[in-house]
Parts: sequence; C-alpha cells; structure tokens
Amino acid sequence: MSSTDLAGDDFWERVRAAYPEQRPLLNLNNAAVSPPPLVVEQATIDAYRLVSQNPDSTMWQKLDAGLPDVKAQLAELIDCEPDEIALNRNSTEGLCTAIFGIPLSAGDRVVVSAWDYPSVLAAWRQRQDREGIEVVTAGFDLMDSDDDIVAAYAAALTPRTRVLQVTHMYHWTGRVVPAERLCRLARENGIRTVVDGAQIFAQMPVSFRELGCDYYITSLHKWMGAPVGNGMLVVRRDRIDDTWPLLAPFDPPPLRIDKFDHWNLGTYNSALQAGIAPATRLHKEIGVETIHARLRELTRYWVDLAQDIPGFRLHTPLDTENLGAVTLFSIDHLDNRAVERQLREIYRVHTKYREVRHLSGLRVSPGIYTRKDELDRFVSALREVVEKEYSERGPL
Ligand SMILES: Cc1ncc(COP(=O)(O)O)c(C=O)c1O
Repeated sequence: MSSTDLAGDDFWERVRAAYPEQRPLLNLNNAAVSPPPLVVEQATIDAYRLVSQNPDSTMWQKLDAGLPDVKAQLAELIDCEPDEIALNRNSTEGLCTAIFGIPLSAGDRVVVSAWDYPSVLAAWRQRQDREGIEVVTAGFDLMDSDDDIVAAYAAALTPRTRVLQVTHMYHWTGRVVPAERLCRLARENGIRTVVDGAQIFAQMPVSFRELGCDYYITSLHKWMGAPVGNGMLVVRRDRIDDTWPLLAPFDPPPLRIDKFDHWNLGTYNSALQAGIAPATRLHKEIGVETIHARLRELTRYWVDLAQDIPGFRLHTPLDTENLGAVTLFSIDHLDNRAVERQLREIYRVHTKYREVRHLSGLRVSPGIYTRKDELDRFVSALREVVEKEYSERGPL
C-alpha cells in the first residue's frame, strides 16, 4: 500500500479491504479493541499452527527469535531504544508493572487524576492500603484548558511527591493532556512519571524521548492493530535497575528490560506476538501522520453532521490538532443508555455508553477502515432515535 495517493477515497478503500468485515454491528468502538488487519490475523493463525507442530522448539527457538526485530520496529515508532521495550499482554499489565514496581515508602505521595483508568486508580489505592503511601488527586475537568490541567497537577505537588500518574488520552472522552509539560514539571521536581498511552499510541505520533517520561505504557491491540493480548511497556534506561518486575524474573541477571517481558509470566503462546510485526509494517506503510489525519477527519465529519440533532452535546474539544478518533457525546434530557441500546438493537450500530463522575454519554471511535457512508448511517440512526424519544416524552 503506497501512501503517495493517501488523500484519495481509493486509498482508504484499499485500507478497508485490508480489514475483516465488521458484522453484525457497525463497529464504532475501536477504542476498546481494534480488529487486526487480515494480514495480522493470518500471520497469527499461521504461527498458531506452527506452534502446534513442535511447541517447545517452534515457540522459543523460532517465533521468539524474531522478537528483537519486533522491538526494533516498535522502538522506531515510539522513539526509544529497543532495550527499553518490554512486550507483555496489555496496558493493564504494563501499568501494574510500573505502579507496583516503583520503590516507595510509607508517606510518599503519588498524584493521580480522577479520570485515570479505573484499574490504575485501584492499583495505586492498593499500594496506599498495603504500604501507607498517599494517593492525591489533581482536580480538573476534562474540558479544562491545558494550562488548567498543568496547574492542577502543580498545585498537588509537595516535597513528598514521588510519582505523577498521567493519562495521555482519556478513554472516557478522547481528551489529550499536555503530557510533555506534565513530565517536565515532574522532572524539575525530581518526580517519576508513569504515562498511560493505551489510547493514543498509534492513533497519533508519540515520542517517548520528547515526552521525557520514565514509564510509557500502551496496548498494541488498540490502535496498532496487533492481535488481542499484546502490550508494550517502555522504561527509561536508567529506571530499569531499580524498578521491580511484577513477577520475579525467570532468568538472572534481573537488571535488563527482559525482566518485564512476557516470558516471566510462565508459558505463554508466542503465536500471538507473531502478529505484531505485520501490524507495525502496515502501520508504517500508511504512516502515523496519515492515520491521525484520517481519524481526525472522520471525527470532524460525523460531528459536523450530528451538530444539529436536538440536545446533542460534545464532551471532547474539537478545535485542536490533538483530536483523534475518540469522542464522547450526550443528548440532553434523554436516557443515554437507552439511546445506545436502540442504536445497537434497532440500527446495528455499536457505540459505547460511558459514565464517570458527572459525565455520561456515548463514546464513538471509528477506525481507519471506517467509511464515511457508515458514519452517515450512524448519524441518521442517531437522529431518528433522538427525534422519536423527544416526541414520545413530550415538551420539557
Ligand atoms: C486509558 C486506558 N488505560 C488502560 C487501559 C487498559 O487496557 P487493556 O485492557 O488493554 O489492558 C485502557 C483500555 O481501554 C485505556 O483506555
């Protein structure tokens, strides 16, 4: 697939042809898991069969032998060294590796936000309950300005602060935070940073070096299109030694990035990782800037169509270069869970109802394989549901 004619519909039709059909639902929840391109699916099936032939030698001598190259490819994409990358099952595992692995003592403080991923908050609270560290919340709203978000984190710092937990893009609404500024603030105060990049990596360009964080975590089965069950943890080289692995490493010496790799989990089916190489190849062929531009274009396209639907309210900043595929909207005065259900059951359109603190609504996240006419279908279904609901409920 050449990206020379990337702007045209023909190009996106060829991208579409590279993906499995999404049925029976129109899949507008790629933020949860994106389908792997066909070439990835096939590579994984082939590897699975290969494993069955002689598991002991095919997994560890053949398939795992390709992992250094996979790490080199990923290192190019995220702008780090290959020996700073560990491959694991998902973001949850990478996040827990960092969260439970940072040496902390009772009284040390960690700053989180109320919008961080629930398992991230639960992991920090577990450390609080077990070890007496203190978890402090930086208070801001998801529609606040970048300056307000940085100020909220800054206001939460004290001399006992040891870690800043940052979510690069919130899964609730697709809001991107000024992660580079937050990491700089942390560095200037001798504080470590754990950055949750589960939603943003491969959706738009990310540079580990430019961010300047200590730990960067992502899933590869979201926007990278690797098979479900793949994740990546990047650890800044000078943090590797003093960070504990989640499980005690199989092989000494434990001071290299290998101590965080999947093989410390025990026996694991390497066939899943065979899909990472074709996924990164296709991703590079299209190019992350092109992918980002397409996702942003698709979001602006459907939001523009939906703006005049009665009660439509968007909870994601639209007018920013950081806009990607993920947004949250709600319809005023309606039960948004019921709107989601009708879209799915009557119109076969799959969005995701999300509820957190005072926010609730439907998350929409198309993929690069989504066609504009499918977004037309989604918006006209939404319009019909909303008009029917408003007419049934009568005047306010
Ligand atoms: C921001 C964020 N962090 C972490 C995760 C956890 O990812 P996984 O389920 O792949 O472990 C998700 C999943 O949606 C997420 O959106």
